[in-house]
Amino acid sequence: MSANPANRLRLGVNVDHVATVRNARGGVHPDPVRAALTAAEAGADGITAHLREDRRHISDGDIARLMAELTVPLNLEMAATEEMLSIALRHKPHAVCLVPEKRQERTTEGGLDAAGGHNHLVPYVARLRDAGIRVSLFIEAEPRQLDAAHALGAPVVELHTGSFCETRSGATRKILLERIQRAAAFADQLGLECHAGHGIGFDTVAPIAAIPTIQELNIGHFLVGEAIFIGFGAAIRMMRMLMDDARLPPPMRPVQS
Ligand code: PXP
Repeated sequence: MSANPANRLRLGVNVDHVATVRNARGGVHPDPVRAALTAAEAGADGITAHLREDRRHISDGDIARLMAELTVPLNLEMAATEEMLSIALRHKPHAVCLVPEKRQERTTEGGLDAAGGHNHLVPYVARLRDAGIRVSLFIEAEPRQLDAAHALGAPVVELHTGSFCETRSGATRKILLERIQRAAAFADQLGLECHAGHGIGFDTVAPIAAIPTIQELNIGHFLVGEAIFIGFGAAIRMMRMLMDDARLPPPMRPVQS
C-alpha cells in the first residue's frame, strides 16, 4: 500500500477540551457538538472524541448527539474495556481508536502496549472490525508495536507524537522525528494505514505532515486553546493550510521565516 493517491492529509479535530471548559462550570456551554459542526465547516475531515471511563470531558450524551448531528465521520477514542466496547457497538461510529487509559493521568500519556497486551486486545479489535468499524491502535513509534498492531489485525495505527511535540531540545526533536518517520514508513510496508496525533500545534505540524505515508492527523488541545485568540474556525483553517503546505513538493513549499 502506498500513501493515499491524492496525497491529501486528513485532519481530524478533537473536541474533548471544548467539553473540558463546559464541564468546569457544569451546564451546556460551550457545546462540543456545536464546536464539531464549526470544525467541519472550517475544513475538518472528521471529528474525534474520547469517551473516558471517568467522563471528565466528553459525555455519553455528547457521543449520541455527535452521531446524530455530524455530517463528517466520528472517530471515537476509547479504552479497551467491555463498557466502552458495548457503547461503540451500540453507536457504530465510523472509527474507533483504542487508547490506553489511566484514571490519574492528565491526558493520554503513552501509547497502547499492543505487544504486551495482545491477548487482551484481540477480541476488541475483532469485535469492532466485525461490526464494520475502522479500528486504529494508538501506539508509540516503535517497530515492535507496529508488528504487534499488524498481528492483531488492526488496519490502522496512530503514532503518538506527544514527546516529539513537547521536547524543547533540537537534538532530541531530530531523533524523535526520525523515529516517527521510520515508523510511518514501516507501517506502510506492513500495509497499515498510518495516522499521527497528540500535542500537535502550529509550530510542530509541518514535519509530521510532510511524512508522505501519514494519512490523518488528530489534533485537539492546541486548536481549542488557539480558538481563544483567533477563533476555532480560523485556527482550523490555519492548521489545514500548514498541513497542505507541508505536503507540497519541497521546491513549492513557502519559505519559513
Ligand atoms: N490522538 C489520540 C489518540 C489522543 O488520545 C489525543 C488526545 O486525546 C489526540 C490525538 C489529540 O491530542 P491533542 O489534544 O494534544 O491535540
